Amino acid sequence: MSSSASTVESGRAADSKTVPGPILLLGAPGVGKGTQAKELVKLWGIPQISTGDLLRANVSQGTSLGQVAKEIMGRGELVPDSLVNEMVAVRLQQPDTANGYILDGFPRTLGQAGWLDGRLAAQAKSMPVIAVSIQVDYNQLLRRITGRRSCPVCQTIYNVHMNPPKRDGVCDVEGAALVQRADDTEEVFKERMRAYEALTAPVVEHYRALGRFAEVDGDRPIAAIAAGIVAAVERMRQ
Ligand code: AP5
Ligand code: MG
Repeated sequence: MSSSASTVESGRAADSKTVPGPILLLGAPGVGKGTQAKELVKLWGIPQISTGDLLRANVSQGTSLGQVAKEIMGRGELVPDSLVNEMVAVRLQQPDTANGYILDGFPRTLGQAGWLDGRLAAQAKSMPVIAVSIQVDYNQLLRRITGRRSCPVCQTIYNVHMNPPKRDGVCDVEGAALVQRADDTEEVFKERMRAYEALTAPVVEHYRALGRFAEVDGDRPIAAIAAGIVAAVERMRQ
């Protein structure tokens, strides 16, 4: 195991010398994209850009994007590419993305992938993306989704079955009451899975075909998965 992989295992701040560049975390609802992105942020100090989190922030702020997105997300369908691409474009202009960023849940359609690939190809200094696809089976995903709770203040993610807080319903870090996402019902999860199979699975194949692609087993302890992602990224950035 590389030194930075063992750093992730021990949960300490990292000393990885890798410049990660753009990393895509792909996978079905509940595979652990958000959980893993937060581990990688601690290691590499590059930002997590979660399109789901950005859309939920727009919904809670009542922006015009949020007003459009709210019902679509509530049904478990995908928000139109043009709106999501524009939101990502604005976020990528922030200076904290200079050494790389972790796109969590984007791109999710071939249209979004084409947009991102074109944008990166047009930037002379941009490193090519590395795509990581996380795999977990359906029944485990359902259990993860229905058991998920998160802190509205620090966004720490818990699971009542598999990764509970020390005190029931209360964030370990902030002491805030944990909340459940509106789309984390079994009914909406099934629709999100349908959208994933129809529209996002082809995106995984697109990046697999381009190379710089890793598939990781997401049904393991969080630190072990993170170590696997780090090792794969370091190998591909050599
Ligand atoms: P989004 O917020 O991205 O939801 P998602 O893809 O359905 O993924 P989740 O956030 O549900 O799961 P995750 O993989 O992040 O898992 P997590 O780490 O939380 O998108 C929501 C909606 O926004 C979409 O349906 C769509 O409408 C819209 N949207 C977003 N992006 C879009 C785009 N690009 N284009 C169009 N529309 C878009 O983990 C889940 C649970 O499992 C947690 O409880 C966690 O504690 C637990 N867990 C994680 N890892 C482990 C482990 N190793 N062992 C045990 N438990 C674990
Ligand atoms: Mg997420």
